[in-house]
Amino acid sequence: MRKDFLAISDLSREEIYELFALTKEIKDKRKKGETYHPLKGKTMAMIFQKPSARTRISFETGIYQLGGHALYLGPNDVQIGKREAVNDIARIISGYNDIIMARVFGHEDILELAEYASVPVINGLTDLLHPCQIMADAFTIIEHKGKLAGQTIAFIGDGNNICNSWLNLSAKIPFTLNLGIPEGYEPDKEILSMAKRANVSKIKIYHNPKLAANGADVIYTDVWTSMGQEKETEQRKVDFSGFQVDDALLSHADDDAVVLHCLPAHRGEEITDSVIDGPQSVVFDEAENRMHIQNAIIVKLMS
Ligand code: CP
Ligand code: NVA
Repeated sequence: MRKDFLAISDLSREEIYELFALTKEIKDKRKKGETYHPLKGKTMAMIFQKPSARTRISFETGIYQLGGHALYLGPNDVQIGKREAVNDIARIISGYNDIIMARVFGHEDILELAEYASVPVINGLTDLLHPCQIMADAFTIIEHKGKLAGQTIAFIGDGNNICNSWLNLSAKIPFTLNLGIPEGYEPDKEILSMAKRANVSKIKIYHNPKLAANGADVIYTDVWTSMGQEKETEQRKVDFSGFQVDDALLSHADDDAVVLHCLPAHRGEEITDSVIDGPQSVVFDEAENRMHIQNAIIVKLMS
């Protein structure tokens, strides 16, 4: 594996499957209550330019379980690129800490952080990508459906960081990726064309969510308005009406389909209570798996 974990596109298929295998090992140890401290004496700096529940809690808890310690640096602390240059902060933190996890707005900031840091950098979400999330999603699908290869994944909603990271994964593992996306909200053009050129998965964009959901093994959705887009909320509610994952839309999927959502959910907008709380939803397993997959990523980067 490379020094950093910034994008799924940086990994080979073998490295992705190695991470899934290590995740299972680490999760099993945790469930059995075994002590596993490969990070004894190590510290992680966690930089957040945006809010978080899962990412903060799962990284901070996960590193403690691995025997290490995490520092939470919120939006008012480091203020990278504002109070201090990104490349200065990268070198300063490298003098104190053994690993960095950062959640930033501009993807270029995580790239610069990784370039100048001498320690590994993990992408905890940017406007462009959310690779830890999609690795956790894929692991959850494997747990529930036995495998990811060959499944039909229907992503319903915005062509955002989650959708872009799914496209990155589709260039590594073969599956069918149906994107049900309103016109004007398509994913990043370069990532979409790279994923199509890779010719590993079947990728189709539909502007009708029912066609995207048809026969799917996995229905996935995310918020219509991502962090940083709050001013567009009202317009997006209009543009995404008809793209709600409700019982009617779910009925177009396979009877055994599972429902995923990276969370936080805006219940009553992109997903109904009946679906997220229903028998096909695996969203809380998915949220838990964030911690196990990230622990595996940390162990690989530090070994
Ligand atoms: N899914 C996810 O990254 O959640 P947070 O924004 O709460 O960290
Ligand atoms: N697309 C969402 C994901 C949150 C985990 C956002 O960027 O806000």
